[in-house]
Amino acid sequence: MLLSIDRCKNIPLIRQVYNEISGKILDGSLPAGEKLPSSRELAKAIHVSRNVVLEAYDLLMVEGFVFSKKGSVTYVAEGAFLKREYWEQPVSSPIHSVHKKEMIHFRSGIPDLRHFPRKIWARLSQAVWTEISDHTLGYGSPEGAEELRRELVSYLLKTRGVKCSKEQIVITSGATQALTIVGRMLLREDDPVVLEDPITDDIQQIFKNAGGNLYPVSVDEEGLDTSLLPENVIPAFTFVTPSHQFPLGGTLSIQRRIELLQFARKTNSYVVEDDYDSEFRYDGPPLSTLQRLDPHRVIYIGSFSKILSPALRIGYIILPSNLVEKCRSVKWFSDLHTPAPEQLVLARFLAAGHMDRYVSKMKKVYRQRRDLIINKLKEAFPADIQISGHSTGLHFIADFPFATFSENDLLQMEEDGVKLYSVEQHAITRGIHKGKLVIGYGHLNNEEIQQGIRCLKNAIDRLM
Ligand SMILES: Cc1ncc(COP(=O)(O)O)c(C=O)c1O
Repeated sequence: MLLSIDRCKNIPLIRQVYNEISGKILDGSLPAGEKLPSSRELAKAIHVSRNVVLEAYDLLMVEGFVFSKKGSVTYVAEGAFLKREYWEQPVSSPIHSVHKKEMIHFRSGIPDLRHFPRKIWARLSQAVWTEISDHTLGYGSPEGAEELRRELVSYLLKTRGVKCSKEQIVITSGATQALTIVGRMLLREDDPVVLEDPITDDIQQIFKNAGGNLYPVSVDEEGLDTSLLPENVIPAFTFVTPSHQFPLGGTLSIQRRIELLQFARKTNSYVVEDDYDSEFRYDGPPLSTLQRLDPHRVIYIGSFSKILSPALRIGYIILPSNLVEKCRSVKWFSDLHTPAPEQLVLARFLAAGHMDRYVSKMKKVYRQRRDLIINKLKEAFPADIQISGHSTGLHFIADFPFATFSENDLLQMEEDGVKLYSVEQHAITRGIHKGKLVIGYGHLNNEEIQQGIRCLKNAIDRLM
């Protein structure tokens, strides 16, 4: 039996012998019933000690690749052959495909990670890891680190007027997990969920997976159109992004907020407020929350993905008191708790005032980018473009009333070096937002913005 063993490789010899033999069994070159050489023979042939071969055979035996008969003779077992095309075929992934390197991607909701406060974060991380107790390195509680929840209470009161106690907060792995938890907490099979249309595909999917039956309600420049709330549906909850509707970017007016809360009271249901990117409001301080108007009915979800970095995976839910225990339980059975050390770093970041300084610095950066990109768009398409949803967040809408962007058109635009999503791609009811493109700009610098708009101009001219 020919085995290629390489002593220079950083792989233990036992593992190399095992890999070689199991590979030959899997690909059929060692068929079932074939007798393997004795450990002594093989060791001699490949110049390794006999113990190496014995241990590799042992591993093969434990995993069922081989069996031994009459004491010492080793044979290849039945059923360990795997047709080559199966084990070489990659599982097709639903994750977004990697786009070409040079492409300018106007992707929404990505902050400028080049500005991430690495030095401060590294210093705080070092302090946390030096001082963290042995107890905190063990399993924690599902609601998350008390230090972070305490800091959040004062941060959210100061910046958003949220009134809550630390006992009402559960730290989650981003807003995505918070939404999943809400779905699991409140939905049974076929329960109605009223939600904004358009909205991200992920959010639609999360509620559907939890058994929800979606009742889309149209959105305009003021957010959810509350005059269209269903008359005869009693939802488990209504989902909204009131500070900066995703994707259209509108802000829910106070009149509509009140109508929405009245609907929730009438139907005795909850409102889920997703406040994913509202810190960056360019014409003044962030707006107050819906939660503030009715803390007993509104479940508030926040995230640090857009303020700091999506990789942190830290978000939170603020719950009416009667839902806290249920939420703790769902979180526990989902992943026990969000990693504690990163929560403690974030708590210190908030406590030392770094967040306030960072948000105020990044607001200036993003405002300048937003203004640049809007100017460039207006220069490129002087007569016919309408901009909306740009007061807050990291994206806005460019409406080309004369155009319709099909999926194919958007793919063709990639040939011109620019990647975008249309509002239609996020719509449940199709055909209403045909000429609207979502322009995400948080992660693009001035040069990239200018290049992106040049490419977009070429692409649209070509399509028209
Ligand atoms: C509207 C909305 N909510 C929630 C999220 C999820 O954010 P997170 O990274 O905190 O899971 C996103 C992500 O882009 C989003 O667009």
